[in-house]
Amino acid sequence: MTYETIIVEQRDAVTLITLNRPQALNALNSQVLKDLSAAFSAYDADPTQHCAVLTGSGEKAFAAGADIKEMVEKQAADFFLEDFFSGWQTGVVATRKPWIAAVQGFALGGGCELAMMADFIIAGDTAKFGQPEIKLGVAPGMGGSQRLTRAVGKAKAMEMCLTGRMMDAAEAERAGLVSRIVPAADLLDEALKTAATIAALPPMAAMVNKEMVNIAFETGLAQGLLTERRLFQILTATEDRTEGMTAFVEKRAGVWKGR
Ligand code: HXC
Repeated sequence: MTYETIIVEQRDAVTLITLNRPQALNALNSQVLKDLSAAFSAYDADPTQHCAVLTGSGEKAFAAGADIKEMVEKQAADFFLEDFFSGWQTGVVATRKPWIAAVQGFALGGGCELAMMADFIIAGDTAKFGQPEIKLGVAPGMGGSQRLTRAVGKAKAMEMCLTGRMMDAAEAERAGLVSRIVPAADLLDEALKTAATIAALPPMAAMVNKEMVNIAFETGLAQGLLTERRLFQILTATEDRTEGMTAFVEKRAGVWKGR
């Protein structure tokens, strides 16, 4: 598969996807969405791949937002009739296997929203997050008002959306937006190492763990706890569960079948 705007590489069981429009600070246009949707769908369907990392090319930006030059000519009816931005849900968020966003430099607007679609974000110490859409006369459209609020709470999300100010890596970590910060020079290595750790664990269990945590954002506590128990019970039927528990008792490493 060839892509116009991203680079996709496989490193053993880890898929590395790199946004590759550095001249536009990796701004997200329709072709990027098309390429990412195809890449995430291929990753989900490939039985040899068990974790993915999404990053930006160049040191300056993960992604500086939706492509303003593409949006500037569109009329309101175009946005509505195309159901603009809906493809991110079906093409990227719907990915069932785990993936990590490795963010250095700017993650603004749609760039911040794309990073928040990941299962978690590892930030380089140069990372800067923001939802500056208000300065363009609009507002977040790819989940920012919802995911940022859930990640950092109302006070910070509201201030960021209303002023467009950026949050640096240290503030993002304190606020719970990123799982941890590493020196920017080590970002890709650290993200790939973390992805390799996940990829070496039982793959179905990884998918179920992801689904469970996501359910916490979508339902009430009682329904979430019930869903957790049911998913746990379903996982106990896997060959990898038998192998995992047997391997523990026999004091050896498990060998996973992925089912
Ligand atoms: C298209 C972009 C872009 C974007 C940067 N570029 N951001 N092109 N869409 N979102 C392009 C610039 O036009 C320029 O190309 C090149 O990338 C380098 O950017 P500069 O501005 O010259 O760099 P710098 O001065 O260092 O400033 C960096 C920056 C600034 C602070 C990140 O680029 C910036 O503010 N970008 C826009 C950020 C933003 O508003 N994002 C939210 C977008 S709206 P040329 O060829 O011109 O030199 C969104 C959701 C919208 O994401 C939802 C509404 C429906």
